[in-house]
Amino acid sequence: MKQVFTGIAELHTPRERLEQAAFAVQDGRFVWVGAEADLPEEYRGWPRTDLGGRGVLPGLVDAHTHLVYGGNRLDEYLKRARGERYEAILAAGGGIYATVRATGAASEDELYEEARARAQLFLAQGVTALEIKSGYGLLPEAELKMLRVIRRLGETLPQRVFPTLLAHVVPGGWEREEYVAMFTAELIPEVARSGLAQAVDVFCDPGAFTLEETRRILEAALSHGLKVKLHAEQIAHTGATRLAAELGALSADHLEQSTPQDWQALAASGTIGTVLPGAAVILRKPFPKARAMWDAGVRVAIATDHNPGSSPLYSPWLAMQLTMSLGRLSAEEALFAHTENAALALGRANLGRIAVGSRADFVVVDSTSALMPLYQWGHTPIHSTYVGGRRVFRAASPGSLP
Ligand code: NIG
Ligand code: FE
Repeated sequence: MKQVFTGIAELHTPRERLEQAAFAVQDGRFVWVGAEADLPEEYRGWPRTDLGGRGVLPGLVDAHTHLVYGGNRLDEYLKRARGERYEAILAAGGGIYATVRATGAASEDELYEEARARAQLFLAQGVTALEIKSGYGLLPEAELKMLRVIRRLGETLPQRVFPTLLAHVVPGGWEREEYVAMFTAELIPEVARSGLAQAVDVFCDPGAFTLEETRRILEAALSHGLKVKLHAEQIAHTGATRLAAELGALSADHLEQSTPQDWQALAASGTIGTVLPGAAVILRKPFPKARAMWDAGVRVAIATDHNPGSSPLYSPWLAMQLTMSLGRLSAEEALFAHTENAALALGRANLGRIAVGSRADFVVVDSTSALMPLYQWGHTPIHSTYVGGRRVFRAASPGSLP
């Protein structure tokens, strides 16, 4: 399939900003990007789509979500708003455990339909690639059930889906040692064999897994050829970020309690530092020091961490806006963090960029200014979303171009 897209008033690649731009797409990849006036002769005869003088950005990449779950935690949210602590609710058998019960009570079809509806809301905001974690099953069969739902989402959603097995908390009635042994000796080999996940993640924090347990789980994952990533330094400083760097993890995520030494380790290893503004702000934790991390040489990514507890956040744009205001990134840096760097957190250098060779995933903004969705809070002007050069979403009633 060959196609040329023109009528782009402003394009952020995100490395560069172009005006009056165009690009050519062949077989789902960008084959040429530049100023419309410079469109080479060889592409002039290709079928054209005029984007109407709008802004265009790379498709957003959400590299940390828990999109599959049963029920909701509105009750817990209201309690936390009155001052109850997330950690105490979890320790009392609520929180993540409440979602484990609700997820266990739901059928695979129900979990699939609910997650599909959520994914559609993300598509309408320009999210073209999503990582989705298990972690609300805990028991082996329940984790595999979640991963089968994620596989079905990957087969049917317009977005690209990246499945991750998450060691979230120790289930009730299990000895910690017994659970870690099962996870490393049974679940990880089974998931690697069946291809149900590409990566393994561990929630390393008080109330979840210790640093030593985390190391055992991640080393088992690596020995089975899976990639690794971590929930690190969210509630307490545990050393998880430095473990992520040591093991060559794709990313260390959260980082609310991370230190300059942690940032040095990330910068040296190339492990992405993913900030999750939803969880930080909603749980009233210190906002991750995105500016200082960036300046220390960390490749910073931003993700929604969409989940029913710490981050019922449906907007990657709000995640970027919060990181601009509270984490002090520029708009261009925030965009870079939710596109190119987020793709690296998935181990995919060919996503998150409008560049020759990259997958042709992009979002058309319903404005002549491509960064308008970062300026407007609470109203996101998206015109359409493309994956592999194919339009997979179009707003029902785009507004008039400002
Ligand atoms: O990324 N921190 C641990 N896991 C999730 C929260 C899950 C939940 O509260 O249900 C997170 O914040
Ligand atoms: Fe998370």
